[in-house]
Amino acid sequence: MGFFITFEGIEGCGKTTQIRLLGEYLESLGYRVVMTREPGGCAIADKIRAILLDADNRELLPLAELLLYAAARAQHVSLVIKPALAEGSIVLCDRFTDATIAYQSAGRGIDRTTIDLLNDLACQSLVPALTVLIDCDPQTGLERARQRIEASAGPREERFELESLEFHRRVRNGYLELARLEPSRVLKIDGSGTIAAISESIVGQVRNKLEVLAHAIR
Ligand code: TMP
Repeated sequence: MGFFITFEGIEGCGKTTQIRLLGEYLESLGYRVVMTREPGGCAIADKIRAILLDADNRELLPLAELLLYAAARAQHVSLVIKPALAEGSIVLCDRFTDATIAYQSAGRGIDRTTIDLLNDLACQSLVPALTVLIDCDPQTGLERARQRIEASAGPREERFELESLEFHRRVRNGYLELARLEPSRVLKIDGSGTIAAISESIVGQVRNKLEVLAHAIR
């Protein structure tokens, strides 16, 4: 059985860079690594991603948004994540169920019971072994994310970047609350450090977890 690690944080927190660095490090140790992301990660979920992040879809209702995230996740978990874990890979996923709690519950105000029910249904009770939360000031993160969108030639995936600072503050607080409630799973990292310092700290924690797991299997 493989090992499932998710990365979380508000827009522009630097998680995509950190996933790549951790992935390269684990591959250099000889692990088989699958890097993926939500929403997306497989053909149908990528199509759902395009709907979810298109800034023209202003009319999307919070409940419809939640159901689309759940639909994309159901595809992704069944077709990509579970098979990769069954093959013994380490799966690094850019966002997962905690994003739904932070954005759709803390951010949009949908009750936790509904969110938990849909998360559970979509991922068939799969829970990450470790979640790296890169904590970042929303104003700094949003500026970084908007600059990246301006510089990108790809589709303008900016529906969430156009939300208010207040919305992103609620999302951040939602994430911080998760880290407070589940300290053994959710590792909070200060995103204001250098890329190298953040990476070093993540690598150290992941190595510890992998050693504990190897010990348990032996
Ligand atoms: P990203 O690829 O920049 O992380 O963009 C994905 C966006 O989707 C981001 O703004 C967070 C949002 N999101 C949710 O609102 N709920 C979710 O369950 C997930 C996975 C992402």
